[in-house]
Amino acid sequence: MNVYDSERMAEALAGIGFAPVDAPDGADMVILNTCHIREKAAEKVYSELGRLRQLKQDKADAGGRMIVAVAGCVAQAEGEEIQRRAPMVDMVFGPQTYHRLPEMVARAERAAGVKLIDTDFPAEDKFDHLPSARGAKGVAAFLTVQEGCDKFCTFCVVPYTRGAEASRPVAAVLAEARALAAAGVREVTLLGQNVNAYHGDGPDGREWGLGRLARALAEIDGIARIRYTTSHPRDLDDDLIAAHRDVPELMPYLHLPVQSGSDRILDAMNRKHTADDYRRLVDRLRAARPDIALTSDFIVGFPGESDRDFADTLKLVGEIGYAGAFSFKYSPRPGTPAALSESQVPEAVKDERLAGLQQLLEAQQDAFNRATVGRALPVLIEKAGRKPGQLVGRSPYLQPVHLDGADLAADTPIGTLVECRIDELRRYSLFATPLAARQERRNVA
Ligand code: 5AD
Ligand code: SF4
Repeated sequence: MNVYDSERMAEALAGIGFAPVDAPDGADMVILNTCHIREKAAEKVYSELGRLRQLKQDKADAGGRMIVAVAGCVAQAEGEEIQRRAPMVDMVFGPQTYHRLPEMVARAERAAGVKLIDTDFPAEDKFDHLPSARGAKGVAAFLTVQEGCDKFCTFCVVPYTRGAEASRPVAAVLAEARALAAAGVREVTLLGQNVNAYHGDGPDGREWGLGRLARALAEIDGIARIRYTTSHPRDLDDDLIAAHRDVPELMPYLHLPVQSGSDRILDAMNRKHTADDYRRLVDRLRAARPDIALTSDFIVGFPGESDRDFADTLKLVGEIGYAGAFSFKYSPRPGTPAALSESQVPEAVKDERLAGLQQLLEAQQDAFNRATVGRALPVLIEKAGRKPGQLVGRSPYLQPVHLDGADLAADTPIGTLVECRIDELRRYSLFATPLAARQERRNVA
């Protein structure tokens, strides 16, 4: 989401004469787009600001001015603390105010020394004001369809930093997707903190869910692949499961965080489902789309988590079999209910559990990658490889796939879907041979 938001900010600022540069040294403005999800992410902002202070000074010494801004969820949650700990920061603004960025920057430019803080949750719909993705680069793009979250998991800051759940209207999403497709994009990843809670107003006056949206997106000429992230198990409805069965463009690769395998902990987390609910959901997904692969997020050391609870997590992981996962030590976040719990788990126990869980998850990921060797899979070509004549693309499971052959490279534009046989796994990359007869011919403008 922050990658997408940063692109939108760059586009908004292009309108007032800014262009992106690769490094902060000497820049007229530096925006840190920040994440507040765990303490480590938030603390990074302050060390980064320490470094920027020197660059800002260097620029001032050379007679120039560098505007330093902090955006994103740390700005939203810690606006005043940022001002206190890093007084050289000129602007602090939260994720709900990006559409006001050009106006804010113009004000900051006019008045050196004035501090601008904007962490409102405006009543107006920010989706209405954001520039849509015009400058699409490459074959795969993000598309925000939903923002915020009403679930209030007891460990999570998102409902506080990103605000209430809101969906973009269907017409706006389809228009943006068409613009992306026209710019050569073939794969869209629909984004939202709770993306499958999507319930956008449809052109027919009814609310559309994510399944219906996916069906409409699949009709757009040029769109070959659709993904979405991140989902909540409670919002995976029958229609979305049916879409996984019916819509070939919907990739068989789903990030479906479960967080824990213990019902006691799931309840304390306010996840609103049990481990068995999750197992049944996975069974239904696999019945609908047998080649679907799953990834998840896990938290170890949530307050009150016992050895037995943790064993339940390992058991669930063993049963489901993941193609990949993110796992984290529980990090108490200010303002969230779980942070106040008196049964915090000692750091050493968290470390040990995380290591055990990651070992199992890595073995599963490795087994999944190995099992793709020998399979025939479509590969979406994204770019030229490092070796002459080499192409690099991605499998439906987001695995990087390398294809060799000068003839092939000359013949295969970026953005082509090539049916391949996967020959080999080297580290995290797959190597494949095209099954030429089934290669899709399509020129991408
Ligand atoms: N501590 C650790 N992990 C967290 N996550 C969210 N909040 C916390 C926290 N306080 C993890 C969850 C979520 C992912 C994006 O980050 O697993 O799914
Ligand atoms: Fe946070 Fe996701 Fe729970 Fe919402 S559903 S509160 S974003 S973990």
